[in-house]
Amino acid sequence: SDPLRLGIAGLGTVGVGVVRIIRQQAALLEARTGRKITISAVSARTKGRDRGVALDSYAWEDDPVALATRDDVDVFVELMGGEDGPAKDATEAALKAGKHVVTANKAMLAIHGQALAEQAEAKGLALRYEAAVAGGIPVVKTLMEGLAGNEITRVMGVMNGSCNYILTRMENSGATYQEIFAEADGLGYLEADPQLDVGGIDAAHKLAILSAIAFGTRVDFDGIQLEGIERVSIEDIRAAADMGYKIKLLGVAQKTGRGLEQRMQPCLVPDSSPLAQLDGGTNMVVLEGDAVGKIVLRGAGAGEGPTASAVMADICDIARGLRGPVFGQPAVGLVNSTAALTKLP
Ligand code: HSE
Repeated sequence: SDPLRLGIAGLGTVGVGVVRIIRQQAALLEARTGRKITISAVSARTKGRDRGVALDSYAWEDDPVALATRDDVDVFVELMGGEDGPAKDATEAALKAGKHVVTANKAMLAIHGQALAEQAEAKGLALRYEAAVAGGIPVVKTLMEGLAGNEITRVMGVMNGSCNYILTRMENSGATYQEIFAEADGLGYLEADPQLDVGGIDAAHKLAILSAIAFGTRVDFDGIQLEGIERVSIEDIRAAADMGYKIKLLGVAQKTGRGLEQRMQPCLVPDSSPLAQLDGGTNMVVLEGDAVGKIVLRGAGAGEGPTASAVMADICDIARGLRGPVFGQPAVGLVNSTAALTKLP
């Protein structure tokens, strides 16, 4: 059959990782999907830079919209990031031009996911985003496919590695939030806008996406009770430790007696919980279903290999002909979470 031809926008850590896997694992990918996966064109903000991977056999586009709408592109792979701007413009242009989309963009999906999903589904196109939530952990597929037979009762987890790094380092070193924040920033562990990490916003974007899949509601980022880690002091961490607890930036989406509740905030976690043992940039997601019980997924939430691994899973799904609704059930039928609040028992 015909090759599946990609246009990749964004050649940072993740983009380079995807190019590398496609070049190094061509035979494996073809064996698994039955199709050759090729790259037609790429785009990024700066052209000349050496990225440690050969790009000269691909066409270059300066403009991601031009890339997304090329005739020789079947799938637009959006790895630029950003809630609005070029990422959203190019994603909309791609869908309009009849291209499937794979994205790692949690901010864009948390804010514009509903509109983009409706646009994709109206045209029978795939819009896939495994890499947007918890990096290399296949949590979107686990929820959507693996747990399709369950009523999901709770989704919970640590979904921002940078915050987990800061809290863990404070615990281990006894240094202040300000000191460890500066260290993490110096090591390049924080987003370009660190407020996205430490304000809990990045983690809340991810929770909003998982919540939509789990509970059949529209993505509702604004409905999350949100608090970041900026006010967690070393005294808080010490006091928690004295009582046998760790402080984690924990996301919880669950059905309660009052309906659907979404929170992202620093929480006390008992030392005996697997969540308490998470260190560094690791993520952990706990899924609870009425039939399956509790499932714990743990792995790298960021980085070249892990995030590219998730992007490749989506590309392979599309190569295999899988489409399906973006959030696991048709986007036009998703209720808003206020409706869910009154509807749920
Ligand atoms: N800043 C994010 C994190 C990157 O630390 O988890 C991955 O989304």
